[in-house]
Amino acid sequence: MANNLLKGKKGIIFGALDEKSIAWKVAVRAKEEGAEFVLTNAPIAMRMGEINKLAEQCNAQIIPADATSVEDLENLFTKAQEILGGKIDFILHSIGSSPNIRKGKSYGDLNYEWFQKTLDISGLSFHKIMHVAEKQDALNEWGSVVALSYIAAQRVFPDYTDMSHAKALLESIARNYGYRLGRMKNVRVNTISQSPTKTTAGTGVGGFDAFYDYADKMSPLGNASAEDCANYTISLFSDLTRMVTMQNLMHDGGFSSMGISEDIVDMISK
Ligand code: NAI
Repeated sequence: MANNLLKGKKGIIFGALDEKSIAWKVAVRAKEEGAEFVLTNAPIAMRMGEINKLAEQCNAQIIPADATSVEDLENLFTKAQEILGGKIDFILHSIGSSPNIRKGKSYGDLNYEWFQKTLDISGLSFHKIMHVAEKQDALNEWGSVVALSYIAAQRVFPDYTDMSHAKALLESIARNYGYRLGRMKNVRVNTISQSPTKTTAGTGVGGFDAFYDYADKMSPLGNASAEDCANYTISLFSDLTRMVTMQNLMHDGGFSSMGISEDIVDMISK
């Protein structure tokens, strides 16, 4: 169902790795809604080649950039504006990775160098992206910047280890840069706190299947899918949400307001 919600808008979409990626679904929906954008991901993700399929489907160019490198980001914003022929209206940060989670380190046994990598890739990169956009004056008035977060920023999910701190950092950056870009350019900055979703990053977290099912049974609407998340993201890029900024927006089928559900009670009483 396309309504030209993003007609004439230009964007940069970070983090489409494969068809399961939330960023992939956002790109497909953004195209349907009339946007033009460039796709970007870390050079290592490019080698897997999947993103070429998406680029073809969306008639978009790909510019590799490691989101932790300010130099790569400078190159990305310069080229994106050349390719798109103007300033940027929307940015999606859909980036997350924790070497500690990948290597199975528990919370009490974190490697601190990897911890810093987690924060850099999954949190600080959001600051770097907006910093470069600001320095290049690359954003249009009334633009919209969105990053994806998870409720482990507020509540304890033991297997989410250092990513929970990265998400807390990410949400804090959204508030602080939201203030700054709001004052400067009327640009809004928000995070979407998404349900557990079966993607490469999601399923890499220990015990994922259990907390996917748990969240599904706790939420009156069930877990929000990647497609639902893409739709919500499109609404935030559209002019229908111009006054929403500096928010962490729960997109979780009601999970975050629940104490316990009948389904969970039934499960435990069995
Ligand atoms: P995904 O694995 O498809 O996407 C993660 C992306 O981050 C990949 O494209 C990867 O190449 C990219 N990335 C990693 N290091 C990078 C770097 N240095 N520079 C640039 N890009 C880099 O998984 P998914 O689930 O689509 O993740 C997208 C976002 O959604 C992440 O922020 C994740 O934490 C968040 N999220 C995911 C949930 C889930 O259960 N899957 C739940 C809530 C939030």
